[in-house]
Amino acid sequence: MTLLSIRNVSLHFGGVQALTGASFDVARGTLTGLIGPNGAGKTTLFNCISGLYRPTGGAIVFDGQPITGLAPDRITARGLIRTFQLARGFARMTVFDHLLLYGQHQPGESLLGALVGDRGAAEREAQLQEKAWAVARRLKLERIVDALPGNISGGQKKLLEIGRALMTDPQMLLLDEPMAGVNPTLVNEIGDHLLALQQEGLTILLIEHDMPLIRRLCDEVIVMADGAFMARGDFDQVAADSRVQEAYLGVVRA
Ligand SMILES: Nc1ncnc2c1ncn2[C@@H]1O[C@H](COP(=O)(O)OP(=O)(O)O)[C@@H](O)[C@H]1O
Ligand SMILES: [Mg+2]
Repeated sequence: MTLLSIRNVSLHFGGVQALTGASFDVARGTLTGLIGPNGAGKTTLFNCISGLYRPTGGAIVFDGQPITGLAPDRITARGLIRTFQLARGFARMTVFDHLLLYGQHQPGESLLGALVGDRGAAEREAQLQEKAWAVARRLKLERIVDALPGNISGGQKKLLEIGRALMTDPQMLLLDEPMAGVNPTLVNEIGDHLLALQQEGLTILLIEHDMPLIRRLCDEVIVMADGAFMARGDFDQVAADSRVQEAYLGVVRA
């Protein structure tokens, strides 16, 4: 039932204790919200889960296997991926090429290519193209596949970031504020895509500040504060929790 397990994960940057022993589980097939005041450690935890940072202590277990300290591409190969903002350096690559690039990062690919030779490579290229089309259609990006990222809307960029992640065939997707800077109509559209992906079996952990959206999308909400787990439940339960209210107010007052 549990797909991702965060067990007493800690991390400090010099004197700053960004994670102070965070622990919680995420069940397979859920769309779970991860909320908490600014500085709570949400992004830092995502960086630990995805292999960007090595935790100072604790363990991260995915699909029954420890992944603590593995390199990001190894974690991706196991089916866990987070989205990243489109890098400026790739401004000359089309939307379609961005999708293809992520699809190429498959485990064992170069070995397979060496073994089966050119015919195999051509076949894989055709499969990759088909997969990129499927993802583009899936996210309604098929009409802009030839566009450059600089010429698409903020919402389409967010969808492309999600699309790239889908190209790696993930079991679980980590999203860090995917709606930031997106207009309200598209926010709802992206939300609908996330619900549809969940229905297809994807597990999603979503950091988001838009509380009405969290309430609409999420089965369950996990609250972090001061680098650790604070509360969980459905949205109305955690919103009514006085400790959660205080954690948010403390930041506003500070
Ligand atoms: N690279 C870093 N170097 C030093 N301190 C950091 C770094 N990244 C995050 N922090 C600190 O860690 C704490 C948690 O930050 P963060 O994970 O970004 O919180 P959230 O995403 O919940 O807003 C904050 O006090 C932040 O200032
Ligand atoms: Mg953050």
